[in-house]
Amino acid sequence: MKLLVINGPNINFLGVREPDIYGKQNYEALLTFIQRAAEAEGVEVECYQSNHEGDIVDKIQSAYGKFDGIVINPAAYTHTSVAILDALKAVAIPAVEVHISKVSEREDFRQISYAGMACVKTYAGLGFEGYRQAILYLKALLQDTCEAAG
Ligand code: DQA
Repeated sequence: MKLLVINGPNINFLGVREPDIYGKQNYEALLTFIQRAAEAEGVEVECYQSNHEGDIVDKIQSAYGKFDGIVINPAAYTHTSVAILDALKAVAIPAVEVHISKVSEREDFRQISYAGMACVKTYAGLGFEGYRQAILYLKALLQDTCEAAG
């Protein structure tokens, strides 16, 4: 089982950016956390981060036929990008949306999630743990799908 984890703009600045909202741990720590969580579940994982919308669209397209599931934190593009929504729909790979912060309790402009419309599940406000929950969810979903397919 191969999962692609995509992080959007400014996630590479974790630890520096607004630590009261996003925590003090940096992006490297997030990568280590994700790798360990995936290893513990026997899941293969590739992590990708970009500050550029089109690059994220390219990465989602390149996952077609190669990955079984996508974990995505589109960061600010969550609230603006129809292109990322369309890319997720186009590849139709089961995707789970993750946000480090509790977006539902933040500004009005963060209350819409375009990417979320193409995702089977959302975890928000759990910090790094949200990524682990997303991996667990996709693992269970994909195992069920395989069993149902016989
Ligand atoms: C975020 C929430 C977004 O609103 C914000 O633009 C981000 C990070 C989160 O992980 O909490 O950059 O996706």
